[in-house]
Amino acid sequence: MPDNRRRILVTSALPYANGPIHIGHLVEYIQTDIWVRFQKMRGHECHYVCADDAHGTPIMLKAEQEGITPEQLIERVGAEHRRDFAGFDVAFDNYHSTHSPENRAISAHIYERLRDGGHIERRTIRQAYDAVKGMFLPDRFIRGTCPRCKAADQYGDSCEVCGATYTPTDLIDPVSALSGATPELRESEHLFFRLADFEGLLRDWLVAHDLQPGIVNKLEEWFAAGLQDWDISRDAPYFGFEIPGEPGKYFYVWLDAPIGYLASFRNLCDRTGIDFDAYCGADSDAEMVHFIGKDIMYFHTLFWPAMLAGADFRLPTNVFVHGFLTVDGQKMSKSRGTFITARTYLDHLDPEYLRYYFAAKLGAAIEDIDLNLEDFELRVNADLVGKFVNLASRCAGFINKRFGGKLSEHVDEPALLGDFIGAADAIAAHYEAREFGRAMREIMALADRANQYIDRRAPWVIAKDPAREEELHRACSMGIFLFRVLALYLKPVLPATIARAEAFLGGAPLAWDDVAATPLGVQVEKFKPLLQRVDKEKVHKMIESSREAQPAAAAPVTADAAAGVDPVAPQITIDDFARIDLRVALIEDAREVEGADKLVQLTLDIGNEKRNVFAGIKQAYAPADLIGRQVLMVANLAPRKMRFGVSEGMVLGAGPGGADIFLVSPDAGATPGMRAK
Ligand code: MSP
Ligand code: ZN
Repeated sequence: MPDNRRRILVTSALPYANGPIHIGHLVEYIQTDIWVRFQKMRGHECHYVCADDAHGTPIMLKAEQEGITPEQLIERVGAEHRRDFAGFDVAFDNYHSTHSPENRAISAHIYERLRDGGHIERRTIRQAYDAVKGMFLPDRFIRGTCPRCKAADQYGDSCEVCGATYTPTDLIDPVSALSGATPELRESEHLFFRLADFEGLLRDWLVAHDLQPGIVNKLEEWFAAGLQDWDISRDAPYFGFEIPGEPGKYFYVWLDAPIGYLASFRNLCDRTGIDFDAYCGADSDAEMVHFIGKDIMYFHTLFWPAMLAGADFRLPTNVFVHGFLTVDGQKMSKSRGTFITARTYLDHLDPEYLRYYFAAKLGAAIEDIDLNLEDFELRVNADLVGKFVNLASRCAGFINKRFGGKLSEHVDEPALLGDFIGAADAIAAHYEAREFGRAMREIMALADRANQYIDRRAPWVIAKDPAREEELHRACSMGIFLFRVLALYLKPVLPATIARAEAFLGGAPLAWDDVAATPLGVQVEKFKPLLQRVDKEKVHKMIESSREAQPAAAAPVTADAAAGVDPVAPQITIDDFARIDLRVALIEDAREVEGADKLVQLTLDIGNEKRNVFAGIKQAYAPADLIGRQVLMVANLAPRKMRFGVSEGMVLGAGPGGADIFLVSPDAGATPGMRAK
């Protein structure tokens, strides 16, 4: 093995240090971890590094909101991230932070090289400035009315209602999301990285490497559109690294983020004696690969190789891009309970399930993958428990009880075992190519054959006949030999389960080349259950607690929902409309809600029952004026847990919000409980 031993530096994208790890992120970290575990099993020297992406305006502001320093925030979130990754058995060789001395040093070094090479330019730009807050505003922190569809309260760069993209100066009535002040335009000098200087180099890089077709197409598109200079500086106040020789100017977070890969690796090298230059130096013959999501391709396939080249480091061997996770066919959503954090998942379910499910779904193409919760339960139970774990439990009991834990010296069906061992190269090729779904299908097809063998042999029948003791021993041992090969193939995906299988098999950890070393006559340990079935109830509870975890303020608040002059929503059918149970309701009681400046608590009579509803109408109505009035309400809206209690419906009102809300009331003659149609 020594001469074909590869040296591979592997990274996953650095998660932002201002929010929890969620199951969308986990697609990436689980994908990378499986690939790395596979490479290590093959005997390659592989180092997997990552870090928290700790800089930038959102992190600075979040810390401020919480009344702590950014350092305190990133420390806390960093610890949570580490704990969550460990919970999913994502085994980084190093997990660092971009706010580290190593990153400061390498970022300064790379910048100085680029500057001295003539690739940095100064230019004065005009940018939105919040004079109350005393800072320039990133687009996301400016809100206003969409210039196209006139929807109120949209971001400075795009409209969530009509999808238009624009610049903050196009917004109608823009305001700072931080202070509410109207932003002014101010000039400031920024530093730009001349990306176009590297077009030739990037084109060479593109042809010299075996990049995914999806990347090649994107790069061609970007070249055709022309490479733009990249603004790499931000003005104080900013949480990041001050740019050498440029007081008051900071590196834009996306400049030092990918450098964080090198910094994390540097930190590992310094602690363990690995040769940094052998991996990252300009003439390194090691491999360096980055796993990322499709949303951050531009940074990794243009800026990053260009920066590395300009500063005389090696270029990436490859960038492996994956698609996005949807749950039950839709974007993860807090209100549907499908925005599932790593922590919430771990509170309810075994991480091995998700590792297997993602593996079964992942391929090498840049395609979105869907977590279908029903399919998740069925597939994990059918494959992992039904085919794999049961194979061992069907045989191990007899081996332990009837043969003192000793496996047979004979292979009952050498041809079948030969087929299992012979699949090693094909399965390895699938892992190598990140075609994990194909690998899982091949492994499960083998598992089917193993179970057919057991069904054919029927050890539970043989066991009844004392004269067939030897036959029983051979059949059950054969089952274990086959199980062992499957365990070896599944090891990159199921580290915890296979560690238990290894303990049962009594041997050293399985490496890929051990596949043919059938444990003839070996003594096994007592068999302990390897993995439980997925419990539907727990999946349900996980969804429920994901739903509850959202802050109460995010729940739709009654008449507020009708704020602004919205464009007409997409059509619905008459059946859709019929599902909404609109009722005439009498406001029996209305009171202020302590601590809420928008809410009024209503007690509504809808004929045969009373409802408690929190309505966001306090600025428009005094509670006393509401009592005795009839309104329309949505009676079959799912109850929402809010900070002040449970809201059991919604009253209808029109208008942009605030003081301008107009409740909808029926004409005289209507009585509580009548259905509106
Ligand atoms: N901080 C940057 C990356 C800097 S790398 C030098 C960032 N962070 S992130 O937390 O938003 O995302 C981290 C990784 O998770 C990215 O590769 C991103 O594509 C991936 N994913 C985030 N949400 C995802 C899904 N819903 N589905 C799949 N991957 C997702 O971007
Ligand atoms: Zn719009």
